[in-house]
Amino acid sequence: MSDRDSFDALDYLQHRFGDLNDQRATYVLGQLHRVLNGFMTKKINDGELKVLDFGSGPVVQNSISAAAFASEIVFSDISSSNREAIQKWLDGDADAFNWSPHFDYVVQTLEGKGEKEAREREQRMRKLSKVVFCDALSEHPWRKAMRDHTTLFYSAHVLNVPAAIERVSSVA
Ligand SMILES: C[S@@+](CC[C@H](N)C(=O)[O-])C[C@H]1O[C@@H](n2cnc3c(N)ncnc32)[C@H](O)[C@@H]1O
Repeated sequence: MSDRDSFDALDYLQHRFGDLNDQRATYVLGQLHRVLNGFMTKKINDGELKVLDFGSGPVVQNSISAAAFASEIVFSDISSSNREAIQKWLDGDADAFNWSPHFDYVVQTLEGKGEKEAREREQRMRKLSKVVFCDALSEHPWRKAMRDHTTLFYSAHVLNVPAAIERVSSVA
């Protein structure tokens, strides 16, 4: 088992996303809200948006805004620990990370809707999402995960990692 497959995803999530007063989480949510509720809504009819979060890690929050419009969301990561953390949340496991405060922040604080809508968004996202393996260093990194119908490709803090590894290994 490689280090990335024994990664403690829950510990990472608690440390990095457990406190919504930490602006690293809310800044990204605010930017995605602006993009998806600005020019994207004018271009994409309801239900046509298919999203690929490439290298999602164990992180669900980055697609909360998109889930209002999307008909499919594909999370993807190279690490089995990260994929399992997402799958646990999709399955509603009792020991999955609790993303409800992040749904509340997006749906209530940013979109100005109510608690009922926040819980509905959470359920909607569980229904339309799945999680798959991906490897940015493979020959066709996103072909399998993406298929031909993805309309929104999202990747945060990922491509610099394998790109740097590739650079180091080609120099070594
Ligand atoms: C810094 S985390 C970013 C996670 C998430 N996108 C976010 O915004 O919080 C980088 C992610 O890239 C993944 N990763 C590293 N190398 C990868 C590769 N070759 N292919 C796909 N994912 C990779 C890691 O497993 C990790 O989940």
